[in-house]
Amino acid sequence: MNINPIGIFDSGIGGSSVWREIYALLPHENTLYMADSANAPYGPKGKETIIQLSIKNTEFLIELGCKLIVVACNTATTNAIGLLRKNYDIPFIGIEPAIKPAALHSKTKAIGILATKGTLSSELFYTTTSLYAHGLTVIEQVGEGLVDLIEMGKIDSIEIKNLLMMYLKPMLDANIDYLVLGCTHYPYLIPLLLELLPKHIKIIDSGEAVARQTKAVLEKHSLLNLSHAVSKNEFYTNGNPDILKTILNNTYDVKYLDF
Ligand code: DGL
Repeated sequence: MNINPIGIFDSGIGGSSVWREIYALLPHENTLYMADSANAPYGPKGKETIIQLSIKNTEFLIELGCKLIVVACNTATTNAIGLLRKNYDIPFIGIEPAIKPAALHSKTKAIGILATKGTLSSELFYTTTSLYAHGLTVIEQVGEGLVDLIEMGKIDSIEIKNLLMMYLKPMLDANIDYLVLGCTHYPYLIPLLLELLPKHIKIIDSGEAVARQTKAVLEKHSLLNLSHAVSKNEFYTNGNPDILKTILNNTYDVKYLDF
């Protein structure tokens, strides 16, 4: 039993979509979320920079006593999680595009993946795709500009809609039946995606699987918080706190910190 918080970080506000899943499955766990919005987007940055930023975020969360860290960012996971696991003693949970279930269930044998440049060009992504999507048509699309707009709070904007229409076109032309969201910011675009996509196309992201994995790893290491007290959920950002606050439906206070 361990009442210390689960630490969660992302390049910005997107990882809060993962936090939601963790909170839904583990409501008694204390959590500490940090949005590195001042450095968003990570996607176009090189591997070395993504590693350095991930180390900075990790050390911030460890200093605050976190017992486990969820890297709620596909870009940071695919580029840095191996090194984080090697360098620090606590368990890490990462997030990767859900290629395996999409590939397994696709009937048209064509799937679309919307993710950042950093994720799509990573070795880990290449390995997973070659392993599970062998023989399938995989339409990879960099969601350039989407994270920037979401970070500005422009989720329901015409700019985002236009970008999505452009990014989905080659996928629709290839007759995909699964769209994999490979960035934790993108679940916030699901209402818009449902408007734009034909009904038979399924959208999947990995947030729920990450929550289940978090629970399993806490159990394995005897780190679950078994108290039934109301949990404490803290949110920090080095960007504009109002944007994170709004995406959390104004239910939580968000603190600005210059980390
Ligand atoms: N939420 C991050 C991810 O899952 C966004 C990356 C970025 O900042 O470009 O990849």
